[in-house]
Amino acid sequence: MLNFELYNPTSLVFGKGQIAKLTTLVPADAKILLLYGGGSIFKNGVYDQVTAALAGFDITEFGGVEPNPHYETLMKAVHIIREKGLNFILAVGGGSVIDGAKFVSAAVKFEGNPIDILQKQIRIVDNVVPFASVLTLPATGSEMNSSSVITIKSTHEKLSFGGRGLFPVFSICDPEVITSLPKRQLQNGVIDAYTHVMEQYLTYPAGAMLQDRFAESILQTLVEVGPGVVDNPSDYTLAANFMWSCTMALNGLIQKGVPTDWVTHMIGHELTALYDIDHARTLAIIGPNLYKVMFETKKEKLAQYGRRVWNIQGDDTDEVAHKAIDATIEFFSKMGMNMQLSSYTTEYAKTADFIEKRFTERGWIAMGERKNITPDKVRQIVELSY
Ligand code: NZQ
Ligand code: ZN
Repeated sequence: MLNFELYNPTSLVFGKGQIAKLTTLVPADAKILLLYGGGSIFKNGVYDQVTAALAGFDITEFGGVEPNPHYETLMKAVHIIREKGLNFILAVGGGSVIDGAKFVSAAVKFEGNPIDILQKQIRIVDNVVPFASVLTLPATGSEMNSSSVITIKSTHEKLSFGGRGLFPVFSICDPEVITSLPKRQLQNGVIDAYTHVMEQYLTYPAGAMLQDRFAESILQTLVEVGPGVVDNPSDYTLAANFMWSCTMALNGLIQKGVPTDWVTHMIGHELTALYDIDHARTLAIIGPNLYKVMFETKKEKLAQYGRRVWNIQGDDTDEVAHKAIDATIEFFSKMGMNMQLSSYTTEYAKTADFIEKRFTERGWIAMGERKNITPDKVRQIVELSY
């Protein structure tokens, strides 16, 4: 097991009716920027619950944060906070709104050009505007981690940043909010969380027995509840297990003491920036192909995953590992994912060139748990995804 430090100050408030607790969770002197997305919160009653709980508070609303939130939009919120002297941000939405809140939180007091936070990936440790969230879409884990992914529209870049200053003060996770989610977003949530676990688990054996079991249990739970929650999001037991699995998949716990990869996400972000494909759907296209191209590096964990998560029998590591990849593809397809890039764009033939070049220019030349995912390997993975 590798050395680690575990730090997570977010207070997670989970369950039915918990939005009402905003009254006491938000600091009494808060001058709030209420950040939200395209308006789903008005249709599903979440806005009403939030504003009822915050009656009497000083609230300025800022809506229109896009899925894959734009730097350009968020800078408008930064200016409003500065102008009005607001001191608290409440994100009400999915990962995009929460990620947006993290960027605004970091940018308001940033000395210099806030675009550098993204393009120079500056670690944010302090000097932030405190923020919290009411989660409406289980998927990203953003409600309990300190990472954020923002798109710069003008340059077609989708870039992540973060730092220990960017944990939400609290996050409210009420599983009942998922009943209004379109099927597509429910499917996305399951696959995003599943891939988060894979990025932190599917590397090489590191003797981290407990973390491996944590990871496998989240995968097994997502396999168990995923198809059902998509068909019946008002089943509270399914919804609660789905939501908690998504948070646990990326709140930092399962990555402690183990190597991680994250290249599926790095390539996936490029596909979203280029073709506007939903985040989770890019991961479904790339993940299995990355496992194929990096088979020799990952085969021992692939076989462990196959045996423990998919109950694949057999002593031959290679054979079990290959079957584990097949089982993953089958599950992703069952969850409504298209597995080929060509399902989304006719431009796909240029993609491998473009991404290989971009990664090389950024100096992303030795990635993955063994630092052996080179731009050339990235090219192979993308080409296999056509
Ligand atoms: O904008 P509104 O109107 O709210 O509608 C949203 C949006 O259209 C809708 N929605 C959300 N909750 C709803 C709802 N519709 C009905 N009922 C509800 N209860 O769903 C759509 C998608 O929302 P979005 O927030 O974009 O989805 P998601 O939570 O999947 O977030 C995706 C973003 O998170 C980033 C992704 O790259 C992407 O930009 N990620 C952030 C991570 C992190 N911070 O740790 C990790 C992830 O790997 C990921 O990269
Ligand atoms: Zn993700």
